Amino acid sequence: MISEKMETALNQQVNAELYSSYLYLSMSSYFSELNLSGCAHWMRLQAQEELSHALKIYDYLNERGGRAQLGAIEAPPQKWDSPVEVFESVVCHEQKVTGLINQLVDLAIGEKDHASNNFLQWFVAEQVEEEASANEVLQKIRLAAKEGGLFILDQELAKRVLTPAA
Ligand code: FEO
Repeated sequence: MISEKMETALNQQVNAELYSSYLYLSMSSYFSELNLSGCAHWMRLQAQEELSHALKIYDYLNERGGRAQLGAIEAPPQKWDSPVEVFESVVCHEQKVTGLINQLVDLAIGEKDHASNNFLQWFVAEQVEEEASANEVLQKIRLAAKEGGLFILDQELAKRVLTPAA
């Protein structure tokens, strides 16, 4: 059985993951408006990945005898100044999420909740990947914007396929 403190903290993370999904969907919509369909596709899949993260925690809460309590999701921004600014925001956002995951691990360790600590290690590894992939796109998009190769980058992003959470 999960503690009330851990349950509350994991519910906050469900909300944070749903917000991430909402944020990336909003970014996808921004790219669609610019007719950058590859960027829009990449962001849409990112939004789906974030939803799968939320569901992973939701399932874990139920499995541990806890309760997933769904609160309001904050409205994400609608506009950015440029595609580069969007990906700068993604990198920033993922760094923030990594901080949230680390806090959850700290709590699980403090509570001697080995099951939650073990569960959260998947997210620790995932965040390494999330930050690296967001950084990679940011570096490429900066280069493309400078060199005028944004169209080529957009084609590359269009090839992304969904990798569901294990
Ligand atoms: Fe669910 Fe992008 O972290």
